[in-house]
Amino acid sequence: MSKTNPRFMALFLELFESLPRQGPGSRACAERALRLCRELPPVPRILDLGCGTGAQTLYLAELTAGSILAIDSHAPSIERLRQTLAERGLSRRAKAQVGDMAQLELPTASFDLIWSEGALYNIGIEMALPICLELLRPGGYLAFTDAVWRRENPPEEVRAAFEQEGVTLGWAAEVAAAITQGGFELLDHFTLPDAAWWDDFYTPMLARIEAMRHQYANDREALTILDEIAKEPEMHRHYANYYGYEFFVARRR
Ligand SMILES: C[S@@+](CC[C@H](N)C(=O)[O-])C[C@H]1O[C@@H](n2cnc3c(N)ncnc32)[C@H](O)[C@@H]1O
Repeated sequence: MSKTNPRFMALFLELFESLPRQGPGSRACAERALRLCRELPPVPRILDLGCGTGAQTLYLAELTAGSILAIDSHAPSIERLRQTLAERGLSRRAKAQVGDMAQLELPTASFDLIWSEGALYNIGIEMALPICLELLRPGGYLAFTDAVWRRENPPEEVRAAFEQEGVTLGWAAEVAAAITQGGFELLDHFTLPDAAWWDDFYTPMLARIEAMRHQYANDREALTILDEIAKEPEMHRHYANYYGYEFFVARRR
C-alpha cells in the first residue's frame, strides 16, 4: 500500500498535518545553519520552500527580523500555518502561500535567504538548485536539508522503502558537488543528530499513530495503513546508520 492509494493518503495526511513538523529537523539545527549565513542583512527577505505547517517558518520568524514568504503545495498545511501566524501576531511579517516550487512566479534576485527542510527532493535537487539560484540575489544564502546515504550496501528493506516513496538518495559529496557546480559556494554541511529525528518528528508521530489506532479501532483497513506508516520510524530506529539527513548551507556566488 502506498501514497497512490486514496485511503492511505487520507490517513497519512490526517496524521502528518497534526504533527509539529513533517520531516526531521530541530530548532537547534536551524540555528546552527542560520549562524553560517554570516552576512545576512538586518531585515532579510526569506523564502521557505515546502514549509509544511511551518515549523521552520516560525523558527525563522523568531530567529531573524526578516520578512518571510512560506510556500507549500498542500493547501491545508498553508491554512494551518496562516492560523498559527495570526495567533502569534506574525501575519504581517510572514505570509503563507499555496504554490508549486517548480513553478514559482516570483521576481528574480528577490531573496536574501532561501530555506527548505526536507522538501527540495520533491522536484529533485537538479531542478531546485537553478530555481533557487535565480531567486536569490548575488551573495544570497541557500539552506536546505536532504536525505543522503551514510553507508554502503543498505539492507534491502531500507532501499525498497525509499524506492517505494520514489526518493532517490545520493551521497552528501554528490549533493555538495551539485551545489558547487550550480553556481553556489558551499559554506558547510552537517548531519542532523538523532534527536532531530525523534524529538519533534518520530516521537509525536508514534504517539499520534497510537491515538489514531484507538480512533479507528473498528476499521481494519485504517489499522493496516497505520501499521504501514509506523514502519518508517521503526526502520530508522534499526538502520539510522545507513541513511541520514544532511543540512547544506551555500551562498550564491
Ligand atoms: C517532508 S515535508 C517537510 C515540511 C516542512 N519543511 C517540515 O520540515 O516540517 C515536505 C513538504 O514539501 C511539500 N511539497 C511537495 N512538493 C512540493 C512542491 N512541488 N512545491 C511546494 N511544496 C511541495 C509537501 O506538501 C510537504 O509539506
